Amino acid sequence: MASALSDKQIDELIDLCLAAREHSYSPYSKFRVGAALRTVDGKTYQGCNVENASYGGAICAERTAFVKAVSEGHRRFVAIAVATDYNQFSTPCGICRQFMNEFGKNLEVFFVNDDRTYKRAILADLLPYAFGPDDMEN
Ligand code: THU
Repeated sequence: MASALSDKQIDELIDLCLAAREHSYSPYSKFRVGAALRTVDGKTYQGCNVENASYGGAICAERTAFVKAVSEGHRRFVAIAVATDYNQFSTPCGICRQFMNEFGKNLEVFFVNDDRTYKRAILADLLPYAFGPDDMEN
């Protein structure tokens, strides 16, 4: 399925995730990650990973972006772009997949390299048989 985003919108999300990576606070892993999330109404939120001396307290870039957006009233999203220092089309970790799934399994996820090449996947394919809000209805 083709992306719901125009080439220009994809370009913008790539710019934003690469810029967000610059703010990464990752003194322990030295692995910088940036994310850019687009809401259905066209707003964008950036996030980076924020680590902690108590290692388990680290928050990933994707969740930072989601928490920023949700805490400002957004719950519907079309796409997120993610750039890491690894540059091999890194994909979001399992916790982030679960976290993002809460707000819709049809989210487009772009894995971006420094040279702006990217791969795209749908969240449902990254987290098959997911447990989500629908499973809590009784
Ligand atoms: N990290 C992210 O920000 N997103 C992911 O999807 C994978 C991992 C961060 C967490 C930690 O700060 C560093 O990358 C190394 O795992």
